[in-house]
Amino acid sequence: CGIVGYIGFNDSKEILLKGLEKLEYRGYDSAGIAVANEQGVHVFKEKGRIADLRSVVDGSVEANTGIGHTRWATHGAPSKTNSHPHQSNSGRFTLVHNGVIENYDILKREYLQNVPLKSETDTEVIVQLVELFVNDGLGVEEAFRKTLTLLHGSYALALIDEQDKETIYVAKNKSPLLVGLGFGFNVVASDAMAMLQVTDKYVELMDKEMVIVKKDEVTIQNLNGEVISREPYTAELDASDIEKGTYPHYMLKEIDEQPLVMRKIVQNYQDENGALEVDSDIVKAMNNADRIYIIAAGTSYHAGLVGKQFIEKLAEIPVEVHISSEFGYNMPLLSQKPLFVFISQSGETADSRQVLVQVKEMGHKALTITNVAGSTLSREADYTLLLHAGPEIAVASTKAYTAQLAVLAILADVTAKSRGINAEFDLVQELGIVANAMEVLCDAKEDFESIAREYLAVTRNCFFIGRGIDFYVGLEGALKLKEISYIQAEGFAGGELKHGTIALIEEGTPVIAIATQDFVNLSIRGNVKEVAARGANPCIISMEGLEMDGDRFVIPEVNSLLTPLISVIPMQLISYYAALHRDCDVDKPRNLAKSVTVE
Ligand code: G6P
Repeated sequence: CGIVGYIGFNDSKEILLKGLEKLEYRGYDSAGIAVANEQGVHVFKEKGRIADLRSVVDGSVEANTGIGHTRWATHGAPSKTNSHPHQSNSGRFTLVHNGVIENYDILKREYLQNVPLKSETDTEVIVQLVELFVNDGLGVEEAFRKTLTLLHGSYALALIDEQDKETIYVAKNKSPLLVGLGFGFNVVASDAMAMLQVTDKYVELMDKEMVIVKKDEVTIQNLNGEVISREPYTAELDASDIEKGTYPHYMLKEIDEQPLVMRKIVQNYQDENGALEVDSDIVKAMNNADRIYIIAAGTSYHAGLVGKQFIEKLAEIPVEVHISSEFGYNMPLLSQKPLFVFISQSGETADSRQVLVQVKEMGHKALTITNVAGSTLSREADYTLLLHAGPEIAVASTKAYTAQLAVLAILADVTAKSRGINAEFDLVQELGIVANAMEVLCDAKEDFESIAREYLAVTRNCFFIGRGIDFYVGLEGALKLKEISYIQAEGFAGGELKHGTIALIEEGTPVIAIATQDFVNLSIRGNVKEVAARGANPCIISMEGLEMDGDRFVIPEVNSLLTPLISVIPMQLISYYAALHRDCDVDKPRNLAKSVTVE
């Protein structure tokens, strides 16, 4: 979800709507705005896209103050009732909210026993609490502050008061939110992009801060009411992408960006009717191929292994995955009509490029899947698919990996449809569920921090095991851990360990097991027992529905083919915290580079 707000001298409707259009990549199942003028507060909501909302906004209402919201729903139908803004019972207070209030049920029971609620939403609880405290005699600012001190969870909030059109009350915890500064007006937005239309000066907000926004004044306070001063910054076109902001490391920021990247990718690959689409020349090339050769290095190679499953299972085209540095001199016997797919975050990896040069000379077609438009591999291949992940700065790849998986899934899905193969699922919907699950995992950082502390603070080695698609995630988990914590780590197929490597298991050796696949759930647990019997310290990460007693973490359920998109997040976060515990340079690990341009 995304929120916006405007207070100033212009009619706010158009600015809010334009801002919401820019935030559509964060969701567009329903949207709403509320604007305040002398006649009162006017709320407009509609199911669907911002264009649909536009058609129900009454153009004759002019108002200089307003807030807006765009929503992404996956569970539960998108509807007008569920959409924001939400209002208090008297209609005096109107609120937009992005985030999840975890203790809303407790707050309801403790404070709102006698207040009839219109919806089941956590958002309504917030706005009703403000009204309750105002009715109890507090000023609006105090009531807002008191409400914030009660909330547990994530929020970016903007609240307006029908009796004071000169103020927007804003607050943030965990969910992103910025205040934009103008001459005679100020704005708020989840992303600077939304308000670049009116200003490029922004003030970043920290967690647990609230802001009183007036048209010519912005006051940031902590929840004790102490005023905080902070210099604004100028947003270059993509400033939010290349700044670390309040994050201690780019890697953590990029891990957190993954849910947004998912939504952005879906949006970028949808046609005007919401159906997934890929350049028809690429689909044709896929269909013309009798075999696909994926060529990649490092994390991109691991994405390729999962991509093979997507393409073979959905589109029914055989796929081979090769490490680029080996391919040149170890070339397999090629099929009659090969298509080469290069997966490269940077689009610059020399090992991959030399294969591209070689296969082009042989007259074969090539597709590059990359995050960087105009990169070498993109320019030199016949076709390009972009990841839309935004710049990835940390050397250890996180959001580019999940973006690669999402784009590969889309490519496989669209190709399957073009071949008349009926997909068993609606990928747009499934990726929405994935994005939500990613958010849940990103909010569980403390759990992964404690796993890292418990298992990895002093160990010299670690194993990652899984079966089926979980094995590939184990490979990526081991690579992440090696890259940034320098712990010797190996990813293994659960069943293969006993054929030699189990000799390395000693008293206390950490073994991280991934269990997201029903058909191998019991066998991977059998492998865990084998290593535990030899002294290992197992840490099982399972998926909802497959969990058993003693599992260390249970990830939310997503479609079984798409589990790597979310099971990798615990691996990323555990590696991140292991590196922190061991005092390693997370963003710039020793001996590595982000883009390796030598063979
Ligand atoms: C480098 C990076 C890795 C990356 C690999 C492939 O070695 O350190 O994180 O996975 O290159 O990079 P690419 O840009 O081709 O995906």
